[in-house]
Amino acid sequence: MKGVIFNVVQEVVEDVFGPDAWDEIVRRSGADGAYTSLGSYPDAELGSLVTAAADVAGVTEPEALVLVGRKGFARLGGRHAELLDGADTWMDVLAQLDGIIHPEVQKIYPDAEVPSFRTTTGDRTMQLRYESSRNLCPLAEGLILGMGDHFGTDLTVDHLECVHRGDDSCVLEVVER
Ligand code: HEM
Repeated sequence: MKGVIFNVVQEVVEDVFGPDAWDEIVRRSGADGAYTSLGSYPDAELGSLVTAAADVAGVTEPEALVLVGRKGFARLGGRHAELLDGADTWMDVLAQLDGIIHPEVQKIYPDAEVPSFRTTTGDRTMQLRYESSRNLCPLAEGLILGMGDHFGTDLTVDHLECVHRGDDSCVLEVVER
């Protein structure tokens, strides 16, 4: 996983729980704790940080990932505002994710392995089939909620299918309230 994601996790932890919490999470996880945005680091190290963060915050790991995504969207989008220029609504962002946004991310971050999101669009609703060997659907859920916050839109995300419940892939249903 690219270092920029680790950077965003650190920023969210420091924003929400303070700098001491990040130090504590790094200590407990045994992770290195220092990441450059363009570097690549083991997925397992992100997993250890999330496990430790969930422990420190007193929440489950999926809840910690949703929080990282929700608060992290503004951080990630803030670093790459140009990638959101062509999107006026949350639906635009999701419609552009596989064809434009993540491919641009791969140009910026060498070796990035971005997930696949196949979308089906309805009236104020979208379904996304998320596929990635990393199985980070709670992170996707959080990023979508954070994107809703960015556009001032109240979104709900349901996991209609989920690898964590034994399905082959994840289908996220996003509904605008
Ligand atoms: C400006 C907007 C965005 C930027 C700059 C961005 C950038 C990135 C980057 C750098 C990675 C790491 C890839 C790697 O380390 O190999 C990543 C992964 C990921 N992105 Fe995005 N992303 C954006 C929007 C979104 C949105 C809106 C979603 C929500 C559906 C999303 C879902 C994910 C997920 C779930 C991953 C984790 C990797 C995986 O599941 O395999 N991203 N993104």
